Amino acid sequence: MKVLMVCLGNICRSPLAEGILKAKIAASGLKGWEVDSAGTAGWHSGNPPDDRSVAVGKQHDIDISAQRSRQFRATDFDRFDFILVMDSSNYTNVKRLASSQEEINKIQLIMNYVTPKHNQNVPDPYYDSDGFEHVYQMLDKACAALLKAHLVD
Ligand code: 4NP
Repeated sequence: MKVLMVCLGNICRSPLAEGILKAKIAASGLKGWEVDSAGTAGWHSGNPPDDRSVAVGKQHDIDISAQRSRQFRATDFDRFDFILVMDSSNYTNVKRLASSQEEINKIQLIMNYVTPKHNQNVPDPYYDSDGFEHVYQMLDKACAALLKAHLVD
């Protein structure tokens, strides 16, 4: 199972999603999962996650400090089974790079694992320092639901 988490800058939401899912996989002793993250924009390429995401991860015993931002690219459709986006704008931007219906089918809003078909967004916390714990809690629920869905399948 190869999962790519995608947000806009790959410094706030998707690095947390990557860290949370990896921690749950490790805690469950699951093998054969690959998890990565990327941003639709390349503004922060090569940079570590935002300090506020690193801090909220640390509060929950998840260390995301070694991650580095990279931009989403069309070849990611070949490398990953699931491309999980944080909001509808990420969805539009990723879909623009798809070249088949099969590739489009790989793109899912991550919160649809918790509330199917609601198309709920994970809010961008970049300009809202109070939003990081809320984002963490949403992603924690989504990653738990994602693992459950794929273990039952
Ligand atoms: P992210 O948050 O998409 O969750 O990584 C953002 C990070 C940076 C910017 C916007 C959102 N920015 O405008 O630089």
